[in-house]
Amino acid sequence: MKRILFALTAVALIACACQKQPADPYGYTIKDNQIVYNTPARPADQQSMLGFAAEPIENVRVGLVGLGDRGTGAVWRMPYQEFATVVALCDLYPERVERAQKVLEELGAPRAIYEFSGEEGYKQLCERDDIDLVYLAVPWQLHTPIAVYAMEHGKHVAIEVPAATSIQECWDLVNTSERTRKHCMMLENCCYDFFELNCLNMIQQGLFGDIVHVEGSYCHNLDPYWDGYQGDWRMIYNRAHHGDVYPTHGIGPICQDINIHRGDKMDVLVAMDSDAFAGQAIADKRYGEGAYQYANGDHTTTMIRTRKGKTILVEHDVVTPRPYSRMYQVVGTKGFANKYPNEGLALGSEDVGKVAYDNLDAEQYMSEAERDAIMEAYKHPILADLEEVARKVGGHGGMDFIMDYRLFYCLHYGLPLDQDVYDAAEWSSLVELTEVSIKHGSMPVVMPDFTRGEWDKTDGITFAFAKAEAESEAEPAAE
Ligand SMILES: NC(=O)c1ccc[n+]([C@@H]2O[C@H](COP(=O)([O-])OP(=O)(O)OC[C@H]3O[C@@H](n4cnc5c(N)ncnc54)[C@H](O)[C@@H]3O)[C@@H](O)[C@H]2O)c1
Repeated sequence: MKRILFALTAVALIACACQKQPADPYGYTIKDNQIVYNTPARPADQQSMLGFAAEPIENVRVGLVGLGDRGTGAVWRMPYQEFATVVALCDLYPERVERAQKVLEELGAPRAIYEFSGEEGYKQLCERDDIDLVYLAVPWQLHTPIAVYAMEHGKHVAIEVPAATSIQECWDLVNTSERTRKHCMMLENCCYDFFELNCLNMIQQGLFGDIVHVEGSYCHNLDPYWDGYQGDWRMIYNRAHHGDVYPTHGIGPICQDINIHRGDKMDVLVAMDSDAFAGQAIADKRYGEGAYQYANGDHTTTMIRTRKGKTILVEHDVVTPRPYSRMYQVVGTKGFANKYPNEGLALGSEDVGKVAYDNLDAEQYMSEAERDAIMEAYKHPILADLEEVARKVGGHGGMDFIMDYRLFYCLHYGLPLDQDVYDAAEWSSLVELTEVSIKHGSMPVVMPDFTRGEWDKTDGITFAFAKAEAESEAEPAAE
């Protein structure tokens, strides 16, 4: 009897210990053949960042960290910004800092006051109290650690894409932004390209009817670029990971089109990849036959279904000769748009009232002239004053300039930013979620909710304007 009692007590103790085992609050469990990610409750000292606006900043003092290819491009654009000044430069290598200083000089802008270098130079930059925003263009693996450090030290952050490489990092960004009340914007420039912005405007004005399905991709043969990444960071990441490791150019604009976390939510995701035929050949050539087993499939396809019944397709391919494409396709009940390889529109909507047209037929593309006329008539409001200067300054044809402009404009006027920390987390979360789905034989993944239940509290994406706000304030209150 004693032995039975002892055995029962031992079993009870083990069961108790198992129950007490702390589950990873940001991890997942597998239930009914689905991978279900946790959404932990918001800690008491944090508040939602939906619609957050910070105090206006007269002139945004910018500290740029990472002065390789992309960061140097940002330096070339910065002096054209009317609401910002580069005051600090930081890179691993001091010679890259000096190279950036020369760019500023060449453009007639003042040299940055502060210079930092070395692996931890960014810490000194973040610790200064005369910098407002830390602008990051470092390797992916450093985005979140530096962004978190910057927010902890009272800085707003703008982070290159993807902002995070794991679900834990996505939550680190959300939690730190919510706790410190600092903006955390991912620099998703593709949301600011002309075709995408004009289509978004048409969608918001009802020309496409209800949106049913959207597509986006990053298909870009990186053969000419692999040698340029400092310390080989991109190849090291890609050869070690399955999944869509660079999803945000594809998914960003289309999430805005279907109001993700502004009325809808990405719910369930399934990813599948091909073998690494070309990827393995590239690795063999770079490092020697068989030195590495290259993980990232040549072609990764992801499908997502939203809570409101829409579907999303995302693709990633950086190793085959497939011509450059961000896909960008929008399928609505009354209209269709696609950007690659040619910009095309097909509208069957009676709402196209602003333009004279004679060949409006949703079953075929409208002529280029009609397309251009509609694009002009429905030009997105943020392009109205910016298009000309954006095309002159450039940066992927102008969209990079518009992105920077909107960031500094909103900070200057104390307005909510166009992209918030939840966009950064949701779009970047595909990096881990696609890898986990693939590793489980393309098992469906129930995605976490970074807004913690607030995904339907906002009605579509809005772009804040100082003038409109001033005008609406001046309007007499309704009786
Ligand atoms: N949005 C776009 O269109 C676009 C285009 C290209 C690159 N990117 C993104 O920009 C980022 C940088 O890419 P890149 O092509 O410029 O890479 P890169 O290798 O050319 O530049 C990275 C820079 O970071 C520096 N660096 C590394 N460790 C550092 C540290 N501890 N502190 C400070 N600096 C450090 C390196 O010395 C290098 O100069 C990546 O996230 C990439 O995905 C975005």
